[in-house]
Amino acid sequence: MNRDFIERVRETVDIVEYIGRYVDLKKSGKSYRGLCPFHQEKTPSFYVDPDKGVYHCFGCGASGNIFRFVMDIEGLSFREAVIKLAREYGIEVPSREVEGKTSPVYAALRFASDYYHEILMSPHGRDAYRYLMKRKIGPRAISSFKIGYAPSDGKSFITKAMTKNFDRGTLIQAGLARKTESGTIIDYFRGRLIFPIFTPGGNVIAFGGRALSDEVQPKYLNSPDSEIFKKGNILFGLFQAKSSIRMKGIAIVVEGYFDVIKMHQAGFQNTVAPMGTALTENQVLVLRRYTKNVLLLYDGDEAGRKAVERSIPIALRAGLNVKISLLPEGEDPDSIIDKFGPEGIRSYMDRQVDFLEYQFREAEKFRESPSEFSEAIKGILENIFMIPDGITRDAYLNRLSELSRIPVDSLRNQGLKFSGETGINKKSKRREVKLTADFIVLVNILRHKELVEIMSDLFNEEDFDDPLTRELFRGVKQGLGYEEIMASGSEVLRSSITEALLRSGNLHENLALLEEKIRLWKYRKDYRDAKRLFEDARKMGDRERMDFYLKKMYEIKKKLRGKGGLF
Ligand code: CTP
Ligand code: MN
Repeated sequence: MNRDFIERVRETVDIVEYIGRYVDLKKSGKSYRGLCPFHQEKTPSFYVDPDKGVYHCFGCGASGNIFRFVMDIEGLSFREAVIKLAREYGIEVPSREVEGKTSPVYAALRFASDYYHEILMSPHGRDAYRYLMKRKIGPRAISSFKIGYAPSDGKSFITKAMTKNFDRGTLIQAGLARKTESGTIIDYFRGRLIFPIFTPGGNVIAFGGRALSDEVQPKYLNSPDSEIFKKGNILFGLFQAKSSIRMKGIAIVVEGYFDVIKMHQAGFQNTVAPMGTALTENQVLVLRRYTKNVLLLYDGDEAGRKAVERSIPIALRAGLNVKISLLPEGEDPDSIIDKFGPEGIRSYMDRQVDFLEYQFREAEKFRESPSEFSEAIKGILENIFMIPDGITRDAYLNRLSELSRIPVDSLRNQGLKFSGETGINKKSKRREVKLTADFIVLVNILRHKELVEIMSDLFNEEDFDDPLTRELFRGVKQGLGYEEIMASGSEVLRSSITEALLRSGNLHENLALLEEKIRLWKYRKDYRDAKRLFEDARKMGDRERMDFYLKKMYEIKKKLRGKGGLF
């Protein structure tokens, strides 16, 4: 995206006013303070610094600039966030910036979803439509989920797409066509019911395709993972569910496509599904933008139970409240609704229990065997110690103590022991990332375009020693601007940058000092180069070159004298 455009938006938006729409902010010194919107807390540890244009939560580590905030709160990409803010603040959006959504791959995906849907509604989709009727999916759900059908001949879609000037490369990149061994290309989806997969913002990025008959393998075929579609980052149904999730204050998580659609039909529009996996960390972070509460409504079979066990710590670590309701073995919400209607599934939802009650009940099955029972309790403790908020954690410890009749202190001691490998420590480890002088200076340099250009010409990633500075410099080398890095960099990187900014005061205003630092880095690089070449020469026994580089090293050192070395 155009750097100047991004900059104009950033300058126009009042970060305190904007974040203030979501968080009750009180002035505190030079910055503003409030309850973090990204995790649950009782005392405010969320800061907004208008001068530096950043927010930072000392509780959960959430941090970034205004763009990151909009990305996380609204579930948008960087580009979408910039454009949304621009529109809202009356800044004209250059037409080429809207492009992202109309890039050929997105356009092909949108075209495909229209196409599959039309086919389903046409005579060619008769069998598929009948199948949907048989599975009790009605016209409203067909339209809101934009269900479609991919013909079985293997070339209908490609042929149609070509007439709309989509080229082969685009179709393959979009996961809509694939090369055969003989080098021709065929439709990726053939003879399948099609479920478009939307981003939370409503763009189609992939498809799930179900075979019409249970004999066909695989039963479900999903678009291949790609640059724009990563299965583990997306929840099926979220686009249709998000407003209901916000309104009801809870998200219901089920296992499959049909489960989501049937739940929506039954009036539970706050339902989503990960696609064929246990919840991933990224999916949980997406969900958390809409609610703090999740109900896992899974099949009570072995696989369902395993998925629940794996999902619990991930959701807890993100600060979510986790409830569980298991259905009888071999049933899913889809089958329950078929048999007993919305009231049937509601009765199971009414029987939901907190993760702790659920896991304790599971643990009690081992009550007879002290060693197995204690292992199970340790497992629960491990989960409790994933919870970022101390007060919530204590409440759970007390509850577990009541249930197990184990004194709360021994639970706590035991929990602290292995929290080493788990949530809390992972979090504090992140905050313990040591910021080096290089990193702090580089962060400040980032705010000056001219200096960034010089840096990018002079140095390589390897010229810096610590991994964080390297990661930051990698972004610089890729031509990413400060705002982009602050919005799209890794969580560790972003929170380290805000921390560096908060710690370094007005360093960025001291241009002379920043330039001096760049000069020192250059000396350091030259010195290292000379030293390396000296070593090479020594190995070769080349006296002449050894002398040459030794002299060079000496000269650099001389220049550095009195400048507080960097070695
Ligand atoms: N899934 C998948 N790929 C597969 C199998 C399953 O992506 N090969 C995902 C789908 O999202 C599917 C979910 O995992 O909906 C659950 O799978 P499963 O329980 O096997 O199917 P159901 O959803 O019950 O499908 P149906 O009711 O159509 O038989
Ligand atoms: Mn099913």
